Amino acid sequence: MAETTHDLRSLPRDDAYALLDEQLRHVLAGIDDRVAAMATIASLVHHGFGHLWTGFYQVVEPGRLLRVGPYQGTLGCLEIPFGQGVCGTAATRRQTVIVRDVQAFDGHIVCDPRARSEIVIPVFDSRGVLIAVLDVDSGEVATFGEVDADGLERIVSWFSGIPGNGAEGQ
Ligand code: SME
Repeated sequence: MAETTHDLRSLPRDDAYALLDEQLRHVLAGIDDRVAAMATIASLVHHGFGHLWTGFYQVVEPGRLLRVGPYQGTLGCLEIPFGQGVCGTAATRRQTVIVRDVQAFDGHIVCDPRARSEIVIPVFDSRGVLIAVLDVDSGEVATFGEVDADGLERIVSWFSGIPGNGAEGQ
């Protein structure tokens, strides 16, 4: 039977991420294509939780520039320099950033004015090279916490099974 998108909103958050991780690894079995994986993850996370915007910004100039990749939601801004906004901050720090209230985050980049809270997860390849960040936006304040960081970090650890091509560097 074909896989379909599950609505995860009725589940405890850690159970939802465990189910999502299991489904993703099943759907992506035998695939070593980053864009296919990013598109699949964006779709399942976005619709599973009913988020406002879910997607990837890929590193196109290491240490300097992120560019929008596969996503679900309204129009995302195209490019974000490292160090700017929540995405650029997570990329520079190479750490997950949770923003409880985007209006209180100095330098938050507004793509959709309905966004109220946000989480950004760094994505690494098997050599530990930063290849992207996963950005998830919510229309409610304080949507994301440690359980989301743990769950989403586990999901993007899929990319650490994909070798780098030597063209990227941090
Ligand atoms: N809010 C992000 C920009 C990306 S959009 O939300 C899709 C940021 O501050 O980096």
